[in-house]
Amino acid sequence: MTFRFTLSGTDGAARTGAIDTPRGSIRTPAFMPVGTAATVKGMFPESVAETGADILLGNTYHLMLRPGAERIAHLGGLHEFMNWQKPILTDSGGFQVMSLSGLRKLTEEGVTFKSHIDGSKHFLSPERSMEIQQLLGSDIVMAFDECPALPADRDRIAESMRLSMRWAQRSREAFGDRLGHALFGIQQGGLERDFREESANALREIGFEGYAVGGLAVGEGQEAMFGCLDFATDMLPQDKPRYLMGVGKPDDIVGAVKRGIDMMDCVLPSRSGRTGQGWTRRGMVNVKNARHADDPRPLDEACTCPCCRSYSRAYLHHVQRSHEMISGMLLTWHNLHYYQELMQAMREAIAAGAFAAFEADFHAQRAEGDI
Ligand code: GUN
Ligand code: ZN
Repeated sequence: MTFRFTLSGTDGAARTGAIDTPRGSIRTPAFMPVGTAATVKGMFPESVAETGADILLGNTYHLMLRPGAERIAHLGGLHEFMNWQKPILTDSGGFQVMSLSGLRKLTEEGVTFKSHIDGSKHFLSPERSMEIQQLLGSDIVMAFDECPALPADRDRIAESMRLSMRWAQRSREAFGDRLGHALFGIQQGGLERDFREESANALREIGFEGYAVGGLAVGEGQEAMFGCLDFATDMLPQDKPRYLMGVGKPDDIVGAVKRGIDMMDCVLPSRSGRTGQGWTRRGMVNVKNARHADDPRPLDEACTCPCCRSYSRAYLHHVQRSHEMISGMLLTWHNLHYYQELMQAMREAIAAGAFAAFEADFHAQRAEGDI
């Protein structure tokens, strides 16, 4: 069985459909929970599936350092290792090297860096990243790229983008064609329309099974990000999945889908759940706040997740203040459930040609604020 993307409906620039893979179908627009170190922290894989997730994201950078890609391969691959049988997309490592590792040296060949865990020295290149992602058994492999921190001057953005495009070509050659597995290219170019165009053209020329918009959500702000997506998404092929990397808050996600994005990932629902933040239809709620101490109501009365079905705000407040493990577990479950319900609502709205009404309602509920 092969990898196939089918669009079933559009509404303005927004699209809905499915990506079929041998490990299952991914309904789009899709939100991918982040399972960096072979776990979505605080969740059993079957619980992640219960929230409605069709696919997880894993990280080359973390897994190559610990426990090691060859070790995971010997243990049957990442799906077997972490007990998640649905599709997995893996990021290629370059972006994480830049944001997490210590001392690093970038050359045409690749990047040498020191592990953030123990300071040991490692090397990543397009070829080694493809090899690691294959060892992991990733279903959707990301090309090896580089992303400058914004703001950066135009020369730096152009130079970095062109290096990423040469690496994209090498990634394609190293990956080859693997039945049922996909390689996605990553568009770079900062907020500059001409560089985004040059990057998109280079990627289309090489040819990928999907196309990511990279280099956004790196501190430019929502308005600038949407401004860039207004032209960047359109430069990518209509008939292939488009993936916005590292986004975002619920309102970022709605705005990205409106602009033609099919896939997203973000640590926000899981990470912020571990610090006491719950995301609901009405915005973000910090359960640590004293106003919840005596509140018998659930986080969201309309939510059907296990956290909202059985626990009060007072309980969430207590376990978060006491640093009990269940605090992060309950809020992560709720947050992932909320994100997946949001995606399902958008898929239905697009299919019904009612995305504008959905969007107006989404913003109206948030404007009301928390109960
Ligand atoms: N995650 C968030 N942004 C990026 C990006 O530009 N490149 C890669 N590889 N991963 C990302
Ligand atoms: Zn809930």
